[in-house]
Amino acid sequence: MTTPFAFSGQHVFVSGGTSGINLGVAEAFAEAGAKVSVLSRKQDKVDAAVARLKALGGEAQGFAGDVRDPARIEEVFEQAAAGFGELDVLISGAAGNFPAPALGISPNGFKSVVDIDLMGTFHVVKAAFPHMRKPGGSIVNISAPQAYIPMDFQMHVCAAKAGVDMITRVAALEWGDFGLRVNSVVPGPIEDTEGMDRLAPTPEAKEAARVSVPLARYGTKRDIANACMFLSSPYGAYISGVVLPVDGGWSLGGVAAISATMKKAFMGG
Ligand code: COA
Ligand code: NAP
Repeated sequence: MTTPFAFSGQHVFVSGGTSGINLGVAEAFAEAGAKVSVLSRKQDKVDAAVARLKALGGEAQGFAGDVRDPARIEEVFEQAAAGFGELDVLISGAAGNFPAPALGISPNGFKSVVDIDLMGTFHVVKAAFPHMRKPGGSIVNISAPQAYIPMDFQMHVCAAKAGVDMITRVAALEWGDFGLRVNSVVPGPIEDTEGMDRLAPTPEAKEAARVSVPLARYGTKRDIANACMFLSSPYGAYISGVVLPVDGGWSLGGVAAISATMKKAFMGG
């Protein structure tokens, strides 16, 4: 699919942009002409992502860092801006997840996901703020349906991602004066991703997830990228504080179906 969006010369920073959905988003922006920065923990994933982005013909730079480490994240944004200039777009997508019943989650397990998804989003948007183009910048937080629909085995993720959407809304309120827009994109079940492999590990669970989507298909990474590009383009210039599901209608009821499937897959009942 060719994109109608143009980000020529713009600096787009993608946290967690070295695999899965976020890498797909980074690639789409690179194809649309952006200079792309990516960040994640593992240097080998960072190097591979930068090589892929450069192979698309664009400029790319990568940083190894953990979103749980605010000092490192501040440093990364300083270096990213020194390399490619002010950020036009920030996509905050780094996250962690594992399926487990609430009674099987240790305090540290719960804290790990909250630290990555919720605290990590806070550290990223706060450290990015001084380097964002003002006015005109766009921040998109990658959320999840668990933010507003309870799901079995996801108490930690539901709690963390609900907080992410509140970060979106409060940042949109506080930073509107600076001409910054802040939105959330909420992917439904996206094909070929670590996230769905964890939540629907068997072919049966994957098929149950597919049929629970009103459009009866998995989403693609490009579906999510298109929403991020629309929100960050001039076509989205009056949209801020929105939590946008991009899920084929899944949030209308399909999440309950995957919730039941997970119970079956993980507890056999
Ligand atoms: N069930 C229950 N608890 C689990 C678990 C599982 N499947 N997987 C990890 N945990 C617990 C660990 O036991 C540990 O708690 P403990 O110290 O009380 O034993 C805690 O979570 C932290 O585990 P650790 O492996 O040290 O964390 P990490 O910081 O290295 O990794 C995770 C964070 C656990 C979220 C890891 O899955 C990860 O890195 N995920 C990134 C990729 C991903 O999840 N992608 C999907 C889309 S978001
Ligand atoms: P993924 O491939 O595992 O992507 C997660 C990314 O975050 C990786 O680049 C990972 O790289 C990085 N990361 C993880 N922990 C980090 C940390 N502490 N610090 C810095 N970077 C970290 O998973 P995905 O399934 O594509 O999910 C991407 C996003 O979409 C997540 O926000 C997820 O919640 C959301 N989402 C996914 C789905 C789905 O269907 N898959 C549905 C709804 C929402 P490193 O390992 O190198 O750190």
